[in-house]
Amino acid sequence: MKALILSGGSGTRLRPLTYSQQKQLIPVANKPVLFYAIEDVIEAGAQDIGIILGPNKDQVIDTVKSRDWDARIEFIYQGVPKGLAHTILVAEKFLDDDFVMYLGDNILRDGIVRHEERFRSLGSDASVLLTEVEDPQRFGVADLNQDGSIRRLVEKPKAPPSNYALVGVYFFKPVIIDACKAIKPSWRDELEITDAIQWLIEHGYKVDASFVEGWWKDTGKPEDIFEANRLILDDITTRNDGLLENSRVMGRVIIEKDAKIERSVIKGPCIIGNRSVISDSYIGPYTSVGDGCRICGTEIEDSIIMDESRIINTGKIVESLIGRNVRIQECVALPKGNRLIVGDNSDISL
Ligand code: TTP
Repeated sequence: MKALILSGGSGTRLRPLTYSQQKQLIPVANKPVLFYAIEDVIEAGAQDIGIILGPNKDQVIDTVKSRDWDARIEFIYQGVPKGLAHTILVAEKFLDDDFVMYLGDNILRDGIVRHEERFRSLGSDASVLLTEVEDPQRFGVADLNQDGSIRRLVEKPKAPPSNYALVGVYFFKPVIIDACKAIKPSWRDELEITDAIQWLIEHGYKVDASFVEGWWKDTGKPEDIFEANRLILDDITTRNDGLLENSRVMGRVIIEKDAKIERSVIKGPCIIGNRSVISDSYIGPYTSVGDGCRICGTEIEDSIIMDESRIINTGKIVESLIGRNVRIQECVALPKGNRLIVGDNSDISL
């Protein structure tokens, strides 16, 4: 089996972060979201992985190459994001075998091994992953036959035929390429994967469903990233490779190499990255502090602070997503007040 991981798209719902970084590279518990997908497909036996690239392609290539993977990785440039089915057409040459298509901004707690085995044993032409949700109106939803096969897929239905939403992982035989060639762009001018799967159903191919039991998160919006960060941190095991001085650590906490914690309280679950220095501060539950950060005289909870950022003597920070190399500090000069240099589409609550 091959794997096609999607790391293109424009990520408009995550601006301004996505002006400077591809959304699949945003860290959750200090690991790029994309890496969770790569690990899952390798665990399920994929030895050839194609990664679809979009606007920030060099960044994705550099980040993926920064680690050794137990698989061959090929990068496939999509250019303008014209839809999930379009990525299959762009990758046509690479997709000469059965494959799993995995949206690079999705995280599944239990991986995809069980679903891959099921797809292989049933011999279906396609298999979609489904999970039960409370608000199916927000998702692609499956209408199921009695035998569990798919009758129809509907995008964001007003009257949902079931509570089963499509998770961003699909298994396909190469016949999906014919389907992607046959369909026309949708009202939003994208080649939709749901239309291609519908084409398979209407042309007599067997499309079945595999149900996800552990949690699943699509990290397309900031609140989803916080939730994914909480879910991953909930499963960490304590490890301290850093230096502690006059500090108290409670609960499950990972402190990476060369991190230094002085006169501070760290309450897990949380993770402190390599070379970060925390002084006279409180780092509370569900916080991920990246590498090379400096946090001083501050309280932070339920937040993601990316690499090389500095937060000095601010008030309490909660539910915040702070990019790389950001500086937030107390205003000492007169006139006193909030001094902001903020990019387009930022979101600030003072
Ligand atoms: P979406 O989250 O639906 O699209 P997007 O990335 O454009 O985000 P937004 O709606 O905020 O603008 O895409 C799902 C996944 O598929 C995501 O990982 C990006 C990827 N993708 C591509 O690689 N190519 C594409 O043409 C599209 C539409 C998405």
